[in-house]
Amino acid sequence: MSLLIQGGMAFLGSKFEQKDILIEDGRIAKVGNALKGDEVITAAGLLVLPGLIDPHVHFREPGDTYKEDFATGSRAAIAGGFTTVMDMPNNAIPTTTKARLEEKVKLAKEKAICDVLFHFGGTDSNFDEVKRADPGSLKLYLGQTTGGLVLKNPSSLEKHLRNFPKEKPIVLHACDHSEGEEENLGKTYATIENALSLAKKTNSTIHLAHASTGKEIQLSLRYPRCTVEVAPHHLFLSRDALEKLGPYGKVYPPLRTEQKRIMLWSALDRADCIATDHAPHTIEDKERGAAGFPGLETSLALMLEGVERGLLDRIWVAQRMTQNPARIFNIKGKGRLEKGYAGDVAIVDPKKKWKIEGSMLETKCKWTPFDGMEVRGKVHTVVKGGKILFEKFQFVA
Ligand code: NCD
Ligand code: ZN
Repeated sequence: MSLLIQGGMAFLGSKFEQKDILIEDGRIAKVGNALKGDEVITAAGLLVLPGLIDPHVHFREPGDTYKEDFATGSRAAIAGGFTTVMDMPNNAIPTTTKARLEEKVKLAKEKAICDVLFHFGGTDSNFDEVKRADPGSLKLYLGQTTGGLVLKNPSSLEKHLRNFPKEKPIVLHACDHSEGEEENLGKTYATIENALSLAKKTNSTIHLAHASTGKEIQLSLRYPRCTVEVAPHHLFLSRDALEKLGPYGKVYPPLRTEQKRIMLWSALDRADCIATDHAPHTIEDKERGAAGFPGLETSLALMLEGVERGLLDRIWVAQRMTQNPARIFNIKGKGRLEKGYAGDVAIVDPKKKWKIEGSMLETKCKWTPFDGMEVRGKVHTVVKGGKILFEKFQFVA
């Protein structure tokens, strides 16, 4: 059985063009005009994107499955147009050994409906374990955040940079959780500057997680082997929202001043990818001060709303949610609509207006800081490995 996605505006890497996409045996077999297939999805008037790739999610399993697990997290991913996500290691029991990584891989295989890749966590002592596990990427926490996985010994960063293969990305969390106030931002910048000068010495590949200020993007440009991601919530929310959100507005890095939010937009052009930093916490945990927002089901819509408002270019957005994360994290065979690539496709209605509501979300946490916001752009259909998982705005039974 082949699947034909017919007549949509397909994203071809540097342009949108009306093309049919034929998927056979789970892979893209042909991109062309007037193609024929067994089963047909009509995509006229819709955007056809490679399945989105999110380099930064927290699916909480094992350890905190009351917040999220691979089943609910991956449903949120698919509903948001993401067919591949990269899960962070800061679980209650962190992903810092080969055995724990293998356990996660196994659980995800059993429960997830999207592809889940894993960032491995670096500690002050697990250098040999990193070598044994041989992960695709390493996450280093240079400041405290949820879960308590953090490097305490100042020499550990350089040891990890020397220990890890040069061509694989090391993801840095540079903000510290004590950093609520503006003046402490200096500490984040110093942390990044220090890390990048060490990386230059060791010739390492660096990816900066969740840049929340324009200055972080500018710092990333000082080292050619450094890439940087931005989360939509730092583009669409500032500290001004805290009055309304209260404890629900708590996130790391924190929401910045309105001026800094605007400066982030000014520097955004040089960012390499958009990451949701999907970090679900229950309503009870938020009331008790947990930091983090769910993001998988709102991020694409927010970026497309940015396009509708004339703030963003649609091609720019598509690149940063598909082929760029695939390139940065060496994810082979994904992120493009080309022959031989995975039959993972997100079909989107770019004009469809909808109101974000926490209670409607697939994520276990059932709340969102964007509750009540009207956006334009909705995921219409999602195909994963040639199978239709989501169609006409809902999951296939
Ligand atoms: C994340 C979490 O809850 O795991 N929280 C957050 O506010 N972003 C951790 C993190 O990404 O720092
Ligand atoms: Zn995170």
